[in-house]
Amino acid sequence: MSAVPSTHHLAVSHQSFQVRPFGNLGAEIIGIDLSLPLSAEDFIRVHRAHLDHHVVVFRNQHITPEEQIAFSRRFGVLQIHVLKQFLLASHPEILIVSNIIENGQPIGLGDAGKFWHSDLSYKELPSLGSMLHAQELPAEGGDTLFANMHLAWDTLPASLQKAVEHRKAAHSYTATYSKPKFEGNWRPALTAEQLAEVKEVVHPVVRTHPETGRKALFVNEGFTTRIEGLPGDESRDILAQLYAHSVLPEHLYRHQWQSHDLVFWDNRSLIHLATGCPNHLRRKLYRTTIQGDAPF
Ligand code: OGA
Ligand code: MN
Repeated sequence: MSAVPSTHHLAVSHQSFQVRPFGNLGAEIIGIDLSLPLSAEDFIRVHRAHLDHHVVVFRNQHITPEEQIAFSRRFGVLQIHVLKQFLLASHPEILIVSNIIENGQPIGLGDAGKFWHSDLSYKELPSLGSMLHAQELPAEGGDTLFANMHLAWDTLPASLQKAVEHRKAAHSYTATYSKPKFEGNWRPALTAEQLAEVKEVVHPVVRTHPETGRKALFVNEGFTTRIEGLPGDESRDILAQLYAHSVLPEHLYRHQWQSHDLVFWDNRSLIHLATGCPNHLRRKLYRTTIQGDAPF
């Protein structure tokens, strides 16, 4: 037997970090450097914080796209966005979220999240969670709002709970795709190939979080088009009530971006909204999107 110590199993060292809840929703994770691989134990703690607080904020992360992708992959398979023209060259796992125009062409999706939504709820397998890493931030505006859909469900008036509890709703990427919201926004027409990738899907209106077992409301104004089995006007009326209830102030966390923030949220528990910023101010973030389970 050789006495030479093996270098193949160098342990990844632990980082000592704290989880500091914001209040209603969300927490800051303080003392982690995401450019370093996380030990198995540290990963478990981050995973737990994500499940407990639904959105976790890591400040001041100087990480490369490769490092963001590697961290994201710890949570699951990554999803490639249908708007291929806005994927980072050579890293299609990253969607560029940006209002910047270069040589007359937008470099990214300028108005991502202009309506309240859960990422990729229009897919058979919607997203587990998404990460946004700030690259360039405007001097004013550009905040992102998050709403807690567990709380929305738990506090929904009983009559509304009863009306939707066992219903399903249709979701479509095209629901609000080219509906204007911010001034001067522009979206490329979807090609036939892209349209084929985003066929309408149906999900339960109330889903069970696959990891915590908690119920959450799972409809959003960005992608949900109708509740199945109800007359059109009734479906519209109920959806409007669900949307209004979801985003009551006591359900919200407002993220005010700081440079090099990385924010990781749970799309099974939350919906989110871009509040927008003045057009002349540059904003650029990199998004990775982790695939989740079929909602049940
Ligand atoms: C997203 C999104 C909101 C924002 O990237 O999924 O909704 O504030 N972004 O940029
Ligand atoms: Mn989004």
